[in-house]
Amino acid sequence: MARNMGQIFSRRADFLFRCLVWTLAGVFCLLLVAAYLWSGSGYQARIGVIIPQPVSMNHKIHVGDYGMDCRYCHTGAERGVFAGIPSTEICMQCHNEILKDDPRIAPIAQSYESGDPIAWTRVSDLPDYVYFDHGIHTTKGVACQTCHGRVDQMDVTYRAKAFTMGWCLRCHRDPAPWQGPVEDVFKMDARGDWPRRGAVLMSSGRPLGTVPDSQSEPLGTVSSTDCTVCHR
Ligand code: HEC
Ligand code: HEC
Ligand code: HEC
Ligand code: HEC
Ligand code: HEC
Repeated sequence: MARNMGQIFSRRADFLFRCLVWTLAGVFCLLLVAAYLWSGSGYQARIGVIIPQPVSMNHKIHVGDYGMDCRYCHTGAERGVFAGIPSTEICMQCHNEILKDDPRIAPIAQSYESGDPIAWTRVSDLPDYVYFDHGIHTTKGVACQTCHGRVDQMDVTYRAKAFTMGWCLRCHRDPAPWQGPVEDVFKMDARGDWPRRGAVLMSSGRPLGTVPDSQSEPLGTVSSTDCTVCHR
């Protein structure tokens, strides 16, 4: 036998085998890169996905063009746990006059008369095991825009941020850059976009109630990154 014992396969088979291994390794790396880009793209977090609603609720017209305040419709946003979705009574305060015979208003008038609320589809929805409270964020000067984006420019309401745990924590580690005067919270252009590139990824949690501009009672010695703050 001319072939030595180490060479079980022919040179050609050996070469093809090596090619195959490197190709598989390459494909695997490409998949990893693709998965990484996809996870950062926000696609799976439903960012920017248009959700069909039973009736048109155009924030661009109501807030952008006519300058309506969020609190007119989302009455709990300032102090409550829930911002709340307005009942059709609130819509009818204007639409019993404005566009009153317009077919686009008909379902609202119908809901008002029958008392059956409009079945809006939720846009920003956390799992039940997460506790969230609007009032505390508003009181601490975190703007609506910081979490919900430029709602005043939306023809159809969509989710602007990921609402993942990592996203919440990134701000809780150091919220100071995202806090400002409480009067500005409802102004849609008062704050920059969150999260800022490269922001405070590695800093540690600070105790609740010690953040600047603190207007309410300190929440004790718990850190705002402790699990029990959001999982109760
Ligand atoms: C004329 C009443 C009205 C005003 C004013 C208004 N909204 Fe809304 N908003 C609604 C209605 C109705 C819905 C439910 C339908 C939808 O999702 O578009 C809604 C939905 C939303 C949602 C999505 C809620 C979810 O998770 O389903 C956000 C976020 C929101 N509004 C933020 C704001 C902000 C911020 C402002 C102030 C800049 C504002 N809204 C002003 C009526 C209003
Ligand atoms: C403070 C007054 C006011 C309130 C309250 C109000 N609207 Fe309007 N709405 C307007 C005005 C002004 C227009 C624009 C009228 C025009 O185009 O001539 C409008 C337009 C509309 C339109 C037609 C434009 C479109 O998007 O297709 C719809 C539908 C509508 N509103 C739904 C609602 C709903 C739903 C609510 C309650 C959540 C609501 N409105 C509450 C003032 C109001
Ligand atoms: C710190 C981030 C954050 C800020 C600031 C914030 N929101 Fe929200 N908002 C959320 C989250 C998260 C939800 C989903 C809550 C859930 O599913 O329990 C939500 C839900 C909502 C909803 C749906 C109804 C409800 O009550 O759950 C509306 C409307 C809304 N927000 C409006 C506002 C307005 C108006 C402001 C400004 C005063 C505001 N939000 C500020 C994160 C925020
Ligand atoms: C842009 C900044 C920011 C983001 C994003 C944010 N928070 Fe907060 N959160 C704050 C600040 C500021 C406080 C007040 C801290 C303090 O009192 O020291 C707070 C406090 C809280 C509290 C304490 C409330 C209480 O009564 O004990 C809860 C719960 C909470 N946040 C949940 C969440 C959840 C859930 C998310 C993600 C869906 C989130 N937050 C995203 C800034 C933020
Ligand atoms: C600032 C709020 C906040 C704090 C603090 C927090 N979480 Fe979460 N957590 C969330 C949110 C929001 C989600 C839901 C994420 C989603 O829907 O993608 C979540 C989801 C989870 C899940 C489910 C994960 C999954 O992929 O389904 C686990 C487990 C969890 N958290 C554990 C913890 C532990 C352990 C801690 C303490 C080290 C902690 N959390 C602290 C907000 C928080």
